[in-house]
Parts: sequence; C-alpha cells; structure tokens
Amino acid sequence: MAGTHTVVVGVSGGIAAYKAVQVVRSLVLAGHDVHVLPTAAALRFVGLATWEAISRNPVRTDVWDDVSTVAHVDLGRRADAIVVAPATAHTLSRLAAGAADDPLTVTALASTAPLVVAPAMHPAMWRHPATQHSMTLLRERGATVVGPADGPLTGDDSGPGRMSEPAEIVAAVLDAAAPRPHDLAGLSVLVTAGGTREPLDPVRFLGNRSSGRQGIAIAEAARARGADATLVAGHVEVPLPTGERLEVVRVSTADELATAAVDAAATADVAVMAAAVADFRLAQPLEQKIKKDAAGDGLTLQLVPARDTLAEVLAAPVAGRVVVGFAAETATGEELLAAGRAKLARKPVDLLAVNRVGWTETFGAATNAVSLLAADGTLAAELAGTKREVADGLWDAVVRLRDHRAV
Ligand code: CTP
Repeated sequence: MAGTHTVVVGVSGGIAAYKAVQVVRSLVLAGHDVHVLPTAAALRFVGLATWEAISRNPVRTDVWDDVSTVAHVDLGRRADAIVVAPATAHTLSRLAAGAADDPLTVTALASTAPLVVAPAMHPAMWRHPATQHSMTLLRERGATVVGPADGPLTGDDSGPGRMSEPAEIVAAVLDAAAPRPHDLAGLSVLVTAGGTREPLDPVRFLGNRSSGRQGIAIAEAARARGADATLVAGHVEVPLPTGERLEVVRVSTADELATAAVDAAATADVAVMAAAVADFRLAQPLEQKIKKDAAGDGLTLQLVPARDTLAEVLAAPVAGRVVVGFAAETATGEELLAAGRAKLARKPVDLLAVNRVGWTETFGAATNAVSLLAADGTLAAELAGTKREVADGLWDAVVRLRDHRAV
C-alpha cells in the first residue's frame, strides 16, 4: 500500500505496556504493517494473544524460533522505523550498549532504520546517570526520544517517568519513517513556549496552565525540517528537546522572556510566539513572604503591565521576516474567530494561530485544534491533530507565505 510503512514496535517490561497496545492499534488502523517484539518482561504485563490480535501479525518471542528464516535480520532490514514503547531503563541500556539478547535487541542491531524510544520508568531511574548516559548515546546515534512525560506514576510518586501519550508516539514514528523534506533549511527561527511566572513574594507567583507542548512541538518540527531553531522556554511540563541546530534558552518571567526573544527575533527569519506570557506583574515583588494575619480580611495586589514580547517584536520590523502570533481564547464558534481578528487588529502579525482554551481544553493535552488566520483576517488553514501535526501544518503555512512573497 502506498504511503504505508513497516513498523517494528518493541515493547519492554513496564506497566505502560498496556498503553503500547494503543500505539500498535493506531498504526494498524492507519494501514501500516506492524510487527511487535515484546520482551519476556513485557509479556508478563500484556500477553502474546493481545499483541498478535492487535498487530494482525505473528509475534516472535524467542530468537530460537524459526531459526532457518533468520527473521530478525529480515525484519530489521524491512523496517522503515523501530519504536520501543515503553522503553525501560534496562532496555534503553541494552539498546545503547548494542546488546543482542532477545528478538527486540537483535532486530534493532540488525537494522539501519530510524529508532524512536518512549522511555517509561520511575523518575529516580530516569534521572540516574546510567540511564542518562544511555540516552546521550542513543541521541548521539540519532534516536528520537519521545517523553517521558511528567505526572503521577503508578505508585504514589510523581515526576518525569510516564510514557508519552500513544498519539504523540505514533506521530514521532511516522515522522521517523518518512522524514520531512528540509524545506526550512538555512532559516533561523525563534519559538517562544511555555508559561511565565511573575513573582509575588519569595515563594509565590502568578502563572498560567500552559504546558509548553505546542511551542516545543513547533520548535522540534522546525529543527526536523532543517531550520536553526532557538526555543525560548518558560515553564514547561514536558522535557525540553535537545539536538543539533536547536538552542534552548530557559526563562521564567515575562521580562526575561522579552529580553531573550526580542534579541533573537532581530535576526530570525521566522518568529513564532507560542508562549503564554503574563500580561500583568507585581510592580515590586515583596521581599518577605506575605503573611495571612497581616493581610487581615483580604489582600489587594496592585499589578502593572508586563513587557509584551510580541508587541516589542512588531515594533521593530525586519524586512522579510514572518511573525506568527497565538491567540488563546475561551470563546467558541464564530466568536472565536472574531476574537482572533480583533487580536490581529491590535497585533498585526503575518499569521495568527487561534485556539480555544478552557478549564478542560488544550492545556497539557497531546492534541490541539487551531484556526490559522492570515494578516488580512481570512482563514489560511484549519489545523487539528497531535501538537506535532499542528506544528507541521503551521510550518506548511509559513513556507506557503514565504513562497508567495518570493513571486
Ligand atoms: N504575548 C507576548 N508577550 C506578552 C503577552 C503576549 O509575547 N506579554 C504574545 C503571545 O505569545 C501570543 C500573543 O502575544 O503570541 C497573544 O497576544 P495578546 O493580545 O497579548 O493575547 P492575550 O494575552 O491572550 O490577550 P487578551 O488577554 O487580551 O486576550
């Protein structure tokens, strides 16, 4: 079938193995030929029958099965991508070391296909230098690392260690199997992402619920398409990406974000402002912790406007540069686009990504839906899907705009 791939899904022994069933299912439903290689430990979480039924292919669990067919070499050669989800600390170290002691590691070693790993483990294991060393080795060899996500784990603990959502993993696999053309090669792009925090006193801040996922996906997509990316990141809930042609600048307040981003925007070909930046801050954060008793019946805080990065960037125009703004709105339907057009009037960007946010929408989710408005307020594109798919749709629109300007 055209456009479909042979994908090897390696499953190692973590509780997130049950979520890997969804990875396999999504790939199969999208028409791909999926071969599952569970480790012995993975089979203690999810049985052989499930993997065979969901993948619609026989599953080998022992390197000594069907020896005459040399199946691992054959599968390794045919694979367009290999994904290991969940990837335990043990299996990551085996992959990093080039071990070959079960069908999964033997196949990975016999293959030149791109490798995607979705780590899942206790945060202490993730942070351990041994695991981090494995990750460095795998990244150096070009592996794509998806997650781990931060959040509650199976036990009582919380932290970086949850396997990323299946949709995010599937998007990374498809990206690895059919890499995008380098249509942003030679371009310098700036992306702001995440939320800012404005201090009130030494322990408290005014913040927002931005997870940074959409902005990070935009920076990662730009890098994957050949751009030199600078990611100015406020507070984010997911691990920050690393890789060649990607510089990450960490900031906390709106002021720090503005200082870093305005500087980078001066030389950028494209600036994408996806950060959720505070509009207001406390003029002078208190030196001492605010005391409940001293505040009495209530507390009034006088806020002053924070620096507006996008407004500052627009105030210093650069010929040929494309500026993309975001509008997070709680309106629905036509009112949502109307709110976007009103924002365009105030902030004349080249493209405005309007997305609905609310108590239950968008923040922290793996998927997003965005209406992209052109400078004249017309609808340039409707983008929906994983945050990576939305990111690629946004870059497609930027490429179209640049091409249009060039003629
Ligand atoms: N922005 C920024 N710096 C700020 C505030 C916003 O760079 N201090 C950027 C955001 O990254 C986003 C766009 O401006 O790209 C949002 O524009 P804005 O009109 O500030 O949006 P809201 O903060 O949502 O405004 P409002 O509260 O009026 O809806």
